[in-house]
Amino acid sequence: MRIIEAKDYADMSRKAAGIIAAQVVLKPECVLGLATGSTPIGAYDRLVEMYEAGDLDFSGVSTANLDEYKGLDRENDQSYYYFMHKHLFDRINIDPVRTNVPNGMEPDSGKECRRYEELIESLGGVDLQLLGLGHNGHIGFNEPAEVFDKETHCVDLTESTIEANKRFFASVDDVPRQAYTMGIGTIMRARKILVVASGEDKAEIVAKAFYGDVTPAVPASILQMHPDVTVVADAAALSKIPR
Ligand code: GLP
Repeated sequence: MRIIEAKDYADMSRKAAGIIAAQVVLKPECVLGLATGSTPIGAYDRLVEMYEAGDLDFSGVSTANLDEYKGLDRENDQSYYYFMHKHLFDRINIDPVRTNVPNGMEPDSGKECRRYEELIESLGGVDLQLLGLGHNGHIGFNEPAEVFDKETHCVDLTESTIEANKRFFASVDDVPRQAYTMGIGTIMRARKILVVASGEDKAEIVAKAFYGDVTPAVPASILQMHPDVTVVADAAALSKIPR
């Protein structure tokens, strides 16, 4: 595991975007696994700038997003489909046909999860998976549990996640209670993983996930077992790691 310390959020975003850009330059037909949440927004902005400057071409890139709320349609401004189009896809020359987000409107969980796993496989797997970190150590929507859920599945969101994500909704009652998410196995099959973390509120979980025990109680801790993980975090997020 490589830990790269950034000065602040802006620096973290530049460094993370640089790593994603390098992947696209080295393999123009790559598959990017993408994430939502507030942390990656700055990195997406930097990628858009590189595209606008003529330094990046996304025409051959395919994407697979980590997760989606169950029950939100694409027009809902809190859906991850909407988020990805707003922050990235509509601002670069990616072919919309090559962008993939789990379908939150498919009521049959088994069917949607199978479809998504097969889709990732048919793309040849994910070359670089971007991840944010939930305060409870969740990645995608893999919540703390007794076992690691391996494949794409439907999860019941924990109270702490509902609480953390209510800031994006009119009220806590509007936060969906379920989501589709890539499983831990799906994430671990990515050839490379890039984790972004920013702010003091992430310091504790960063230390726990990357320096603590590997346990499904802290889903991100499994990343310690992956052969190619880069964590880009700002000084505040790294303030509790053992030095
Ligand atoms: C959500 C997403 C995660 C994300 C997490 C952290 O729950 N499903 O993929 O990593 O929030 O979000 P933030 O970056 O806003 O702290």
